[in-house]
Amino acid sequence: MIARIETHRGSITDLNVDAIVNAANASLLGGGGVDGAIHRAAGPELLEECRTLGGCATGDAKITKGYHLKAKFVIHAVGPVWQGGGDLGEAELLASCYRRSLELTREYKLKSIAFPAISTGVYGYPLEEATRIAIDTVRNWLIGSTALERVVFVCFDERTLSTYERLLRDHD
Ligand code: APR
Repeated sequence: MIARIETHRGSITDLNVDAIVNAANASLLGGGGVDGAIHRAAGPELLEECRTLGGCATGDAKITKGYHLKAKFVIHAVGPVWQGGGDLGEAELLASCYRRSLELTREYKLKSIAFPAISTGVYGYPLEEATRIAIDTVRNWLIGSTALERVVFVCFDERTLSTYERLLRDHD
């Protein structure tokens, strides 16, 4: 059964899914944007657990509990900083964030996951290209076996939402 892919306009901290993905930095010690919002909503125990993880490489993802969030787990993914596109590694590193996060849902037998638009904020990744990578990577991964029933792309602003909805339609 192929999981349902949805978009949602709003804050990822409001979602009642098994895991929400955090657009974190390599230290995993919090930050601004969605990272700040998730830590604020989860409470201080999240940072305490993050401290035990010893950071996270760009393109990789690590899982923690969700604490005061509705979500049971937080998957912290570290996206690439946009360097202008010359360094081909950016696209692969961004795709890897989505793949590693999805692999963790398999490991933990999760049924639902929500992603923010990783790297498209502070990290400056062009929205159109990042959205294409997100959708293609998730769709390709879902072809394999998975217990996942629901993948939500959470868009914090109208521009992001309309980009996701257009590219999801185009691919149909
Ligand atoms: N819920 C969902 N999405 C959100 C939220 C929220 N509460 N707050 C911000 N966003 C959106 C942004 O609008 C953007 O579309 O998340 C997307 C990613 O933006 P950032 O949070 O800036 O993340 P990123 O570009 O990956 O940069 C990561 O920023 O906060 C620091 O510690 C973090 O150093 C890391 C860097």
